[in-house]
Amino acid sequence: MNACTVPADDVPTGDLPPAAQLAARLASAPDARLAAVALALVQAFSDLSRHHDLSREDLRALIGFLTEVGEACSDQRQEWVLLADALGLSSTLERQLSRRPDAATPDTLAGPFYRPGAPRRKSGEAICLDNRGEPLLFVAHVHDLDGTPVSGARIEVWQANGDGLYENQAPDLQPEFNLRGCYQTGSDGTVLIRTIRPRGYALPGDGPVSALLARLGLGRTRPAHLQFRITATGFQTLTTHVFDRDDPAIGSDPLFAVRPALLADFVPDSAEGLKATYTFVLAPVGTAQKPTTDFIGG
Ligand SMILES: [Fe+2]
Repeated sequence: MNACTVPADDVPTGDLPPAAQLAARLASAPDARLAAVALALVQAFSDLSRHHDLSREDLRALIGFLTEVGEACSDQRQEWVLLADALGLSSTLERQLSRRPDAATPDTLAGPFYRPGAPRRKSGEAICLDNRGEPLLFVAHVHDLDGTPVSGARIEVWQANGDGLYENQAPDLQPEFNLRGCYQTGSDGTVLIRTIRPRGYALPGDGPVSALLARLGLGRTRPAHLQFRITATGFQTLTTHVFDRDDPAIGSDPLFAVRPALLADFVPDSAEGLKATYTFVLAPVGTAQKPTTDFIGG
């Protein structure tokens, strides 16, 4: 057969749209999962184009935006990750991959500011090393699904300071490991963390993702929170946030991490300044998961 000859069976006989033609061509693709995902993307774009009357200018603008995102990346910056976060893709996947029973504390993304090796602290010790900020006593209880205290749970905590900066964002302005610590629960499943009130912080404002958020009328400010990673023998590791319920940005977290179960009240306390109490509920290893359909579109 001549190299330019196309077998008659391969010539589309109908006026099939590209997605349908692609489906036929991918029927015997060597990587079936990749083929299915690629086809779903093409089909989604087809639906988008039809439902929103996309123009050639729209496609050029999309390609230009994606090009800008790539050009904004460097060794110190990952604009693609920021885009995935800001569109909720990261949070959607995290919810799907870390399904837990309803009664368990929800898992969230760890974020970019976690550091291993935080100093060990005894219950009641402080993690604020520069004595700056509004004092806060955070009372952390760790329970199992039945409400029984979990002894020996390791609680790592990290947070931004009163200016909205993590210690590793401002190494010249904060002591190393400021506002980071590692505690262990006793038989009552409780530790007292002496710290300061964190302040919310904004996502980077100088790249194509922030420009997109601005065009959409969306904010870049994360509501104030403390972050935790809790490990205990026999339980699934829990990585999560606890948010200040009264923060003005509580309903507009650009990373979609806020959940009703992750809110705490920071209340005035005559002895401590502010006090917050939160109960972390761990799910045992091997706990039956919720069905995937609960998280579609979430
Ligand atoms: Fe954070």
